[in-house]
Order: sequence, then structure tokens, then C-alpha cells
Amino acid sequence: MFVFMTKLMLKTLQKVNTDKPPIWFMRQAGRYLPEYRELRAKAGDFLTMCYTPDYATEVTLQPIRRFGFDAAILFSDILVIPDALGQKVRFETGEGPRLEDLNLDQLSLDHLHDHLAPVYAAIGQIRSALIAENFTDTTLIGFAGAPLTVATYMIEGRGTKDFMQFKKFLYGQPQEFDRLMNLLIEATAQYLIRQVEAGAEVLQLFESWAGAVGGFAFEKYVIEANQKIIAKVKAVHPHIPIIGFPKAAGIYLKDYMHKTGIDALGCDFTLPLNYIRDELQTIMPVQGNLDPGILYAGGALLDREVKNICDTLGEKPYIFNLGHGIHKDTPIAHVEQALKIIRAD
Ligand code: CP3
Repeated sequence: MFVFMTKLMLKTLQKVNTDKPPIWFMRQAGRYLPEYRELRAKAGDFLTMCYTPDYATEVTLQPIRRFGFDAAILFSDILVIPDALGQKVRFETGEGPRLEDLNLDQLSLDHLHDHLAPVYAAIGQIRSALIAENFTDTTLIGFAGAPLTVATYMIEGRGTKDFMQFKKFLYGQPQEFDRLMNLLIEATAQYLIRQVEAGAEVLQLFESWAGAVGGFAFEKYVIEANQKIIAKVKAVHPHIPIIGFPKAAGIYLKDYMHKTGIDALGCDFTLPLNYIRDELQTIMPVQGNLDPGILYAGGALLDREVKNICDTLGEKPYIFNLGHGIHKDTPIAHVEQALKIIRAD
């Protein structure tokens, strides 16, 4: 008899209650793992890892082998999109991303899929590797950065704390900014559609800098831009679950949830658990939201916080995750400590 088993992560996204929550950690493949650092040293360059399917596959699998997470996330970066559009990106060790000066006239969709072909190949390879290594309940998440977040890097040329060059462009050259956003919306939608076709089972949109703007800019460049991408993806793949992660969106969160078409909300670590349970989880499944700083600090507080998340959100569908990416110096023992508590609860 053919028995159809739905994966734990997919069940949760279909709003089915499960005994234990599915677990994965944002940035779960990365420098806190010695096996990652070893491969990174061998590859030499971070983007080489992203664009080499064998490396990307190996690194994606590393945290699954070590911790048995319920979801694997494609190893890549949100900045492969500017790179594929023609704005060269590089990563200096210990310095973060550097992008060449933005020139709108030089960006184009023409080479998007050629450039990203290794990413699509990696997705297929990861699916096969998960099956070959018997991780048959592990769900593969594809992802992209949302346009506003990606645009901050394209305009500033690097990470920023105050977003002033970005804002000067957004508020000072609105037509040019719209041109950039429209290009990113199209590129991101096409990229995500191809990821699904290559084997991604869930998608996450990282709007990590949602909290950088408010008012009309939030409405237009966060909510509307995310909504357009999701509509384009769902027009082709209506059943693909999409998780939105609009970090520090505060008072705009419910609007974001109602208007974008996401299926689940990634909650950042600033959101109070009672608020998530009473106001957000009543709308859709939620994901989150352990402070990576608490995971880094460890100790009795880590035990308490993890248990508190499980107890508060456990009545309705939720995915255990961090409220932002794991810090590179996080002790592996702290990850194990957290997992023990979630799984015992
Ligand atoms: O979650 C995962 O394990 C999948 C891989 C992943 C990476 N980046 C790998 C990475 C994902 C989902 C991202 C998303 C990403 N990248 C975001 C959105 C999420 C967030 O954290 O807010 C952003 C803003 C970026 C851009 C980016 N990439 C920055 C600012 C940096 C430098 C800072 C840092 O942590 O080094 C990166 C580099 C990066 N992306 C690394 C990894 C593993 C470290 C690269 C290295 O090995 O040196």
C-alpha cells in the first residue's frame, strides 16, 4: 500500500497541529560550524561556495547531519541577485559584502538564469543528497532577499547602520528608485519560481531591513513589493508555502500579513510571545523567535526562554527558529542545549 507521509515542516505550514514543532535556525549553515569553516577555507571565497553546487550542497547538509533540523535551507546569499543583474558583489573575509557602484543602466535580466544556474543545480543536488542520506522528513527551503532589503546593499554598496544613502536615493530620486524596485521584483519572482522548479519545497522572503522605513515607503516598497513577488510566484506555483520575514516591522506587521499573501510569518526576537500568540498566530502559522543573543549567551536563561517559546506557541502551528540569524561565535553546545529542550517539551 502507498502511504503518503507529509513532512513535519509542511504539515505545520498547512496549519496542521503536530506534537512537536519543526525546527530550523536562520543561517544554520555557517561559521559557527567547524566543518563549514574548513570547507570555506578550501573554497577560498564565499561566493565560490554559493556558485559551486558540490560546495553548496555539502554546506547545506552540514547542520542537518549534525543537528537533524527539520528543514534545510539552500546555501546561498541574498546578494546573488545584484550579482546576477550585473552589479558585481564580493565578500572580504571579516568585512561583509562589498558591491561595485550602482549603475541602473548596466543592470539587466538578460543573464539572470545563466548566472544563477549553479544555484538551481545545487537545489536539485541537495534534494537528492537529503534522500540519499535518509533525511526523508527534511524539507528544503529556498529563499531570496526582498527588494527593499537587497536595494539597501545595492545603493549603499555594503551593510549600513543608518541607511542614509539608501534613503537619499529613495526619497530624492523616486522614479529611479521605482525602476530599481521593479527590476528587483521581476528578478526575485523569476528566481523563486526557478527555485521551486529545481526542487525547493518552501520559500522564505528575507525582508531583514523592513524596520528601516515607515509610512508610504513601507506600504509601497515593503508590502506592495512583497505582494507582487508572491502573486507572481503563486500564479505559477499556487501551492508553494511562502514564509515572510519582515524584521522589525512593528506596527505594520498585521498589514503585511493580510496584504502580501504569505502563508507563515517569521517573527523577529523583539516581538513579545503573548503578542505573537494572541495577535499573530491567530492569523497564520508563525516561526521564531529566540533571540540569537540568548542562544549565544547560553545558561539557564536559554533553557527558560526556549521552554517559554514552546509553551506559549505550542497550542497552534508554529516553527521553532531564531528571531534573526545565528551569530558566528555561537557555541555548538548551546544549539544542542536548545534542541534538547524543544524536543523534550
Ligand atoms: O540560513 C542559511 O544557512 C542559508 C544561507 C544564508 C546566508 N545568508 C549565508 C551567508 C542566508 C539565508 C543568508 C541571507 C542574508 N544574507 C541576509 C538576510 C538574513 C539576515 O541575516 O538578515 C542578508 C542581509 C545577507 C547579506 C549578507 N551575507 C551579509 C550582510 C553578510 C556578511 C555578514 C556576515 O554574517 O558575515 C553575508 C555573508 C554570509 N551569508 C555568510 C553566510 C554563511 C558568511 C560568509 C562567510 O563565510 O564569511
